[in-house]
Amino acid sequence: MDAVGIAGWFFSLVTGSVLLTWLYNESRGSILVVALFHAAVAVAFTSDISSQYVVNAAGGLITFWGIVVLVATGPGYLSRRGKVVRLHDGGTVTDFVHRDRPVAPTAAGRSMLLNRLEAALMNNPVRALIQRRVEAPRLARMGGRLRGGTALEIGCGRGVGAEAILDVFGAQTVHGFDLDPRAIARARRRLAGRGGRARFWVGDAAAIAAPDQSYDAVFDFGVLHHLPQWRLGLAETCRVLRPAGCLYAEEVLASLVRQTRCFLAHPQEDRFDAAGFQLALADAGFQAIRCVELAHSVAWFVAIRGPAA
Ligand SMILES: C[S@@+](CC[C@H](N)C(=O)[O-])C[C@H]1O[C@@H](n2cnc3c(N)ncnc32)[C@H](O)[C@@H]1O
Repeated sequence: MDAVGIAGWFFSLVTGSVLLTWLYNESRGSILVVALFHAAVAVAFTSDISSQYVVNAAGGLITFWGIVVLVATGPGYLSRRGKVVRLHDGGTVTDFVHRDRPVAPTAAGRSMLLNRLEAALMNNPVRALIQRRVEAPRLARMGGRLRGGTALEIGCGRGVGAEAILDVFGAQTVHGFDLDPRAIARARRRLAGRGGRARFWVGDAAAIAAPDQSYDAVFDFGVLHHLPQWRLGLAETCRVLRPAGCLYAEEVLASLVRQTRCFLAHPQEDRFDAAGFQLALADAGFQAIRCVELAHSVAWFVAIRGPAA
């Protein structure tokens, strides 16, 4: 083997090892998953029925996959810190997360902040374009524009939604909060030019720091599915809305939460589909509920808060 061959062999050894470590962490420490993967690769590489084409394709795929894992998770995730830990809420185990995925205390137990991959998926120009050009106009068509008034955005992230609430929905003022202080710093910078029309704070959707019936509209761009007790968040949005105020929500449904559990840090227990979310909206005190669903994966909802009890 020449020098280039040795370098290539060493490189695929490293990326293959990265992949096995990632599989181990993502399967919550299952040696069986790692062994099955390794056995499948060994068969593909050495079996008589395998061809040079299969060997090259499998080698290329493993190398590519290893690089993607390294870029998406970072080396820290592959270190010995990346072990599974249990989250306790009082006496009960509420979830399993990797120790290097940040968690924050909330009114409804600990909530997971975005992991690196989801942060990258949320904080990029394509996501901003989709939010401004597709999601906000869709919700505005479903529920109508605001013509002034004060709106609240829960889990506002870096403030792209808040901009759309002012520009697309026509709110006079927008307030927003997020569990993640880094997101709030970015939102404040993004809307610094809007004067007193935008205000942000670090806060929890399960215990909204606002008086009853203080907003004309509440916006949820993909946040409630992050809450271990999402019904509590829904009840809170209802509490802070004025009667006849409107909730606009874009949500990730149970099947997508399940399918992405290896990559994204979401609570897995008691998730909702579109029908379940609509039932919960009615239970929380909403009326005139409208829903558009896409491939059982994401859905858009608008709902009007009923009269105060
Ligand atoms: C999928 S991101 C969406 C961010 C933003 N709304 C957007 O569409 O770009 C979910 C956001 O909810 C925040 N979050 C998660 N749990 C929360 C909670 N209990 N209270 C407030 N924000 C929360 C996360 O920090 C994150 O910024």
